[in-house]
Parts: sequence; C-alpha cells; structure tokens
Amino acid sequence: MDPVKSPVAQFELRSFGRRRGRKISARQAGLLTELMPRVAVDPSSPPPRDLGGLFAPDISSVWLEIGFGGSEHLIWQAKANPSVGLIGCEPFEEGLVKALSAIDEGGLANVRLLGDDVRPLLRWLPAASVSRVFILFPDPWPKKRHQKRRLFSPDLLRLLARVMRSGAELRLATDIGDYARTALLAVAAAPEFRWTADGPSDWRVRPADWPGTRYEAKAGREGRRCYFFRFVRT
Ligand SMILES: C[S@@+](CC[C@H](N)C(=O)[O-])C[C@H]1O[C@@H](n2cnc3c(N)ncnc32)[C@H](O)[C@@H]1O
Repeated sequence: MDPVKSPVAQFELRSFGRRRGRKISARQAGLLTELMPRVAVDPSSPPPRDLGGLFAPDISSVWLEIGFGGSEHLIWQAKANPSVGLIGCEPFEEGLVKALSAIDEGGLANVRLLGDDVRPLLRWLPAASVSRVFILFPDPWPKKRHQKRRLFSPDLLRLLARVMRSGAELRLATDIGDYARTALLAVAAAPEFRWTADGPSDWRVRPADWPGTRYEAKAGREGRRCYFFRFVRT
C-alpha cells in the first residue's frame, strides 16, 4: 500500500494513546462536521507543490505543531504570528475540537488541522516547506517495553529533515529525563540537525515566545523538571 495513503506506514507503531475521551457536545460535533472540512489538511489528496496554497496568499512561512493536545500553544502562536500558517496535528478528538472551537471563536484564518497521526502528513508535505516544528511533551511511554512507541526518534528526524527548510527550528519539550537523553542522542546522530544550546539556561528556561501547555502545568504540579530543546535544521 502507498505509505502516504495508509494511515501510518506498516512498520510504524502507534505513538499516541486514546483517540476519544469524553463524549463531545452537540456544538463540538457541529464544529467537526462544519468547520473541520474547511480547515482540514488531507494527506490522501495529491501533494501540494506550494504549501502556502493551503492558506491565504499573505502567509510568509508555515509552522507545524505535532500533538497539540488542548491546542493552547498552537492557538497562541497563530494569534501572535498572523502572517504564519500553522498546521496542527492531533489524533485525540477532544484536542481537535478544542482547536476548532478556538479557531471559530477567534476567527483565525491561519490554522489548518489534521486529526490523525503526523507521519503520513510528513511524507506528503513538500520538501523544505516548513520553517518551524513544535513537539511539546510527546507521550512519554515510560515502560521499557513501550519505549519503541516514542514519537521522537531517528525515524521521525529523517521525516522532519526532508520537510524542514535549512535554518528551520525544531522545538521539543519533555518532562522525562530519559526521553530528553534519548532525544539528544538521536539529534547528535542526525547530521541534518544541530542543538543550539550554549549553557543550561538554554534548555531549563522556556523562551518568551513559547507559551506553557496544560501538560507542562501538570508536570510542574507533580514536581517534574521540564526540558526545552531548540534544534536547528542545518
Ligand atoms: C502528552 S500529550 C501533550 C499535549 C500537548 N502538546 C501539551 O503539551 O499539553 C501528547 C500528545 O501527542 C499526541 N500524539 C502522539 N503521537 C502522535 C502522532 N504520531 N501524531 C500526532 N500527534 C501525536 C497525542 O495524541 C497527545 O495528545
């Protein structure tokens, strides 16, 4: 089967937990049937030559958030950067409807959504088309036997390396020390990426243009340190 058309390539393990949680309200169901088709990105359609065509003509660059959860970071970035087109990707329905609700309420024209696994999208996007990628608190999969499900991996870096422009930034946050360690090892082994940190404040302190997320707040309440990494596509 064509890997772009398949939900995920056959060798890829599922990296997310549930797709559905609580029953969504009638208003949220309405957003899924009415607004979602207008803002959806469809990786089973023919790949676009120019990603800007997904958005209004005044978009200067495209950023991607993978696993946006409650969408607070995605929506903050979309409001703070109206000339940037944001693609948000989240298979969990409750997260998707939160983003749709914020797009609707804010009249946001610069957000597009995929309610599914990001990896087919990464195979579909044009090469060197994305200027920034956010992966904030990917599912930790803490049990040893589950760690192969972690999204941030050498395979993901290969997919990202193709779609990211030279000089593009990849932001990763995690509250799991072992995840941070394996992410740094994966980046160190990937010639297409470079870690920009000069000292501890570069990964201990979240920059001002990087708002906190719900998952980060939970980590703080539970006393876990967070790591904020910025890598550059060389
Ligand atoms: C722990 S949550 C963090 C959510 C949010 N980024 C935050 O910081 O609050 C991780 C999210 O990543 C999503 N996710 C996991 N694997 C994914 C994949 N392959 N493609 C897109 N999203 C994924 C999950 O559905 C989940 O909502």
